[in-house]
Formats: sequence, C-alpha cells, structure tokens
Amino acid sequence: MRRITIQDLRSYKSRGERFAMLTAYDYLTAATLDKAGIPLLLVGDTLGIFVQGHDTTIPVTMDAMVYHCEMVARAVHHALVVGDLPFGSYNTLEEGVRNAGRLVKEAGVQAVKLEGRHDALIQRLTQSGIPVMGHLGLTPQSYHQLGGNKVQARTQAAVEQLIQDALALEQAGAFALLLEAIPSVAARAVTEALSIPTIGIGAGPDCDGQVLVSTEMLGLHEGQSPRFVKRYAQLQTHITSAVQRFAAEVREGSYPSTDHSYNWSLK
Ligand code: KIV
Ligand code: NA
Repeated sequence: MRRITIQDLRSYKSRGERFAMLTAYDYLTAATLDKAGIPLLLVGDTLGIFVQGHDTTIPVTMDAMVYHCEMVARAVHHALVVGDLPFGSYNTLEEGVRNAGRLVKEAGVQAVKLEGRHDALIQRLTQSGIPVMGHLGLTPQSYHQLGGNKVQARTQAAVEQLIQDALALEQAGAFALLLEAIPSVAARAVTEALSIPTIGIGAGPDCDGQVLVSTEMLGLHEGQSPRFVKRYAQLQTHITSAVQRFAAEVREGSYPSTDHSYNWSLK
C-alpha cells in the first residue's frame, strides 16, 4: 500500500470522507496505529506531557522532537507522518526553515505542524517542498499568553477573526488546518470557508477530520482530560492488573511454571 499524501487529504475533503488522525511518540505505538490503518499520524509536542511528564508543551526541545520523529518515521509505511515544530523553534524565518528541515531530512517525517499566524514561514517552507499543517484556536504553546488552556473563538468577532486567520494560512500554502478547543459553530464556519481540510480536536463534528491524543483515548494516563476526550480503551487498568498478577504469581511461586521454563535434562 502506498503512502497517504497531502493530495489524498484534499480529495477526502472534496468527497466528504471524514478521516482520523492520532498522535504517536514511539516506534511500537506508531507501528500499531499504522497497521490499524490510521491515515495521518502526528508526532505531537504533547510528548512533553505524556512522555516527559511536563505540565505543558513549552519545555519540549528540537532535539526531543527529532528523536521521537525518527522513531515514528521508522515504524510507519502507510500513514502521512506530521512532526510538530516545538515552542521557540520558529521565532524567526531562518530558525523555522532550519528546524522544519531537520524534522523532514534528519528525522524522516513527511510534513510539519506549527501554531498560529506564521504566513511567511509557511510560504517559505511550502516553496522549499515541506508541507505545513496549520494550528489555530487553542494553541497550547501560547499557554501563558492565553492564560491557560481555554476554549477560543467564543464571540462572533473572534470567529470572524479565526476565519480570516484560517484563510491566510490556506493562502500561505498550508495543506490542512488543525482546530483546537473552539465551539462547533466556529469550526463549521472555518471548515466551510476553506478548501483545505480542517482537523478538529474539541472542535465539534463538522471538521473534515478528527484528531485525539492516543495516550488519552486509549486510557493510558490517569488524571483529568478535557471534555472532548473519549476513552476508547482503559489500558492503564489492564496494565495495572497484568503487572499485579505477575508480581503476585512471583510471590506465590506459580510463575514461572514448567510451561515457561527450559525443562532440559543436562547432558
Ligand atoms: O501535540 C499534539 O498532540 C497536538 C494535538 C492538538 C493533537 O498538537
Ligand atoms: Na502540538
């Protein structure tokens, strides 16, 4: 099976076919999601939270992104892999061009994602052959500027602005736009205004695609998740019971049994 392309995503939108995206941070997860047929994988800077244990995505470095993007790219043969440009890695055009180049050339992803209005950078990257996914609405790298992770675009004026911003990113050459934590009506308006696909997270049912953080949707982490996270599995519960059974069997001497031992007689 050939790899999904940015052109495929556009034709999904024009045919009205919805598609799924999930995050992946490591080889095993990425290989599993790819084999499951997920067409779009994001090496998100949320790895700062779910892999590294930080409170926000802000401390994530370029080196960490390259490291995780490499592992995911090595595992994936079918999905289009998008790597996040982390906080502070695209403050200038030159830095943005260099760092996006690292993710594509060193780490082997097919596209990059960046947050907010960086029209000139998006134009430069697409001209140099690097597809860019935009990200508007709640942009977690601006956590301190926004005063926390809050729902965005809550007024008519803010929705008008969001549509203008989205059109500018499309004009600059973005191949898709991620919309995070905005009212469904806002996401619908943006989706209708754009010819590139929108991918929502906490943005209601009318986006062209939907993305979730796999760690959250698989129930791998404990603690609070936002309203839009649906748990499709409770893996942490499974893991806890598996490791507790192992420890109990070790204590009572029932593991390893002869089935799990080399019962050879010595020569
Ligand atoms: O890093 C991430 O996980 C994201 C989400 C919005 C999917 O950007
Ligand atoms: Na991100």
